[in-house]
Amino acid sequence: MIKAWHLGDARQSLVLASQDDRLPAAVYWGAALPAGEDIEAIARLGEFDVTGGMLDRNPEISLCPEASRNFPGQIGLVGRTASGAPLCPEFRFQEADKTDSTLNLVFGDDSCGLKLTILLSLDDQTSLYKLKTVLESRDPITVDWLAAPVLQTPASASRLLEFSGRWCSEFQIRESEFLPGARVRDNRTGRTDHAHFPAFLATAKGTSNTAGEVYAFHYGWSGGHKMVAEELADGRRQVQFGHATAGYAIETRFETAPLYASYSAEGLNGSAVSFQRHLRKSVTFSRPERPVHYNCWEAVYFDHKLDELKDIATRAADLGAERFVLDDGWFGRRDDDTTSLGDWWIDERKYPDGLAPLIDHVKGLGLEFGLWFEPEMINEDSDLYRQHPDWVLGSLTQIRGRQQLVLDMANSLVRDHLFERISELLSTNVISYIKWDHNRVLPQVAAEQTVGTYELIDRLREGFPHVEIESCSAGGGRIDFGILERTQRVWLSDSNDALERQRIQHDAALFLPASITGSHVGPRKCHTSGRVLSMSFRAWTAAQRHLGFEMDPRELDTDEAATLKAVTDWWKANREWLMQADILRLDSDDPSVIAELHREETGGRFVAFAALLQTSAQILPRPLRLSGLEPAARYRVDLANRSEISNLSRGSPALKSGPIEATGQYFMSHGISLPWKFPGTLWVLEGQRI
Ligand code: DGJ
Repeated sequence: MIKAWHLGDARQSLVLASQDDRLPAAVYWGAALPAGEDIEAIARLGEFDVTGGMLDRNPEISLCPEASRNFPGQIGLVGRTASGAPLCPEFRFQEADKTDSTLNLVFGDDSCGLKLTILLSLDDQTSLYKLKTVLESRDPITVDWLAAPVLQTPASASRLLEFSGRWCSEFQIRESEFLPGARVRDNRTGRTDHAHFPAFLATAKGTSNTAGEVYAFHYGWSGGHKMVAEELADGRRQVQFGHATAGYAIETRFETAPLYASYSAEGLNGSAVSFQRHLRKSVTFSRPERPVHYNCWEAVYFDHKLDELKDIATRAADLGAERFVLDDGWFGRRDDDTTSLGDWWIDERKYPDGLAPLIDHVKGLGLEFGLWFEPEMINEDSDLYRQHPDWVLGSLTQIRGRQQLVLDMANSLVRDHLFERISELLSTNVISYIKWDHNRVLPQVAAEQTVGTYELIDRLREGFPHVEIESCSAGGGRIDFGILERTQRVWLSDSNDALERQRIQHDAALFLPASITGSHVGPRKCHTSGRVLSMSFRAWTAAQRHLGFEMDPRELDTDEAATLKAVTDWWKANREWLMQADILRLDSDDPSVIAELHREETGGRFVAFAALLQTSAQILPRPLRLSGLEPAARYRVDLANRSEISNLSRGSPALKSGPIEATGQYFMSHGISLPWKFPGTLWVLEGQRI
């Protein structure tokens, strides 16, 4: 007996089928099936053969593959009873609840007192599935592994794209081939981490940004996570995501974070647009237009002097900044990074009259004021540690990270204390922004730590809904859809090197829209790479995302200040639509060029950025092929930064002297002939449908 369910939209279909009331498997996931498709028949048609050396049936890759079915790969639930006996449930159907866009399925095994609920939904605006597993037990049990609903990826999607990275080089794409066996990523750092962005894309051979099939997954969780991408010995493939192993205590209820998934037949851009739109629609800003951001970290570090900060704020405002963020160094006796985390009291040596004189000055310039915190951390050299060494997470013999320890966020006393300290500062000062940092990995994997942090942020957001929060973790160490349910911006990377930033923000655009991705114009000589890059390149690179500045404005010469101001004015004039645009990664025919097209959702206008990172192998610039345009529509395209044409460009490509016009088909198939240019520069092309 087969029970089957279909959850789909115009782009994709997911068909689940349960045989004899057992846990269902995703028997189809891919391009949208026509309305008349018989989904029960599909469940039968997909049945695989059996031959020598095999079990008499193929155990299904169900939404939670079961040991009781002799499943030959990684199972979806690994747990033990209180006395240590392994759990081996045989789940059977109990109930289903279906609407056009949601499906809730409940299965149980009364013999061991377990209930498994699978929650599935499909957002019709983004074409993104949200999948979650909940396990409830009659008796307390230990769960070592619980997978979010497990999906199969088809034989055609044989390439694996996953993400690694490091401090100052987040979102590195790693591509490999599906091979027999399990590819397991067990992120035991307790945070999302630079090295483990929780996502996975299975692609068909030859898939590019603009064409080909993609099965995309993102696990929306800020603690440690585990990913399993496995090709079984029989050739079938499954993808699992869940909290990191040993992420749960002895309990009676366990739930995974949401797993977001999407199928696209339009290359990586198809799934990227789904993920970007999800965040654009779900992240709520207290003011819709994104203010130009200034952060003082790389200008002064810990050396806070009121007069200098006022001067810096005045100069930042002259350049166009609309928000001033006071970074690390304002509290306790924090003159370097060895001390004071936990002592969230204003340092009276640096601010004898509190923060009001600086805030008043900043507000007087018309800017909002933001403040840096690192709430989950503690230094041994702090009053908080002297009072509460027992609030530390893990053993005191653990290796320190940036000379600091971590507070136990599962302890409600810790959370209450942090809430009291932060809310007192927010109530007594005009603060509308928090930069929430997290500069080390955790000493142990503990889901409760993440839950505790979420709870504290939620409480602060409820008490101070006008205060936006930026998620920073030594740059991009805590970026995921879980933290973005409660924060409004991410600090993508501590690298302000525009060359590096081009790569990082381009790859992060597989998930992140411009509106939440902070990108700052750094110092002339980059503090993390030592590179010297032109102001134009630095400014246009930051203008591709949520624009900010982070250099000392006192270092700018007149030309640099004028360039930065002009780019900032351009960004402000365009931000209303630009921050709502889809970022399409272009398939650049020159590996030295990173190019992307930011397209208004309705397609009427766009801006394309083409950055030349190094000299090209060939002498002529390869035509820049656009994407996402209407083939038959005509477009006018112009250079926004024509003044940057080099005197070594001696020819006459049409765009050099003025706007050009052609159909979308021409721009997408042939591409645009661009003027020759130096490496470390970029072209900005504005396009309009005529
Ligand atoms: C790490 C962050 O990524 C930086 O931007 C800065 O806020 C420092 N921490 C401050 O300690």
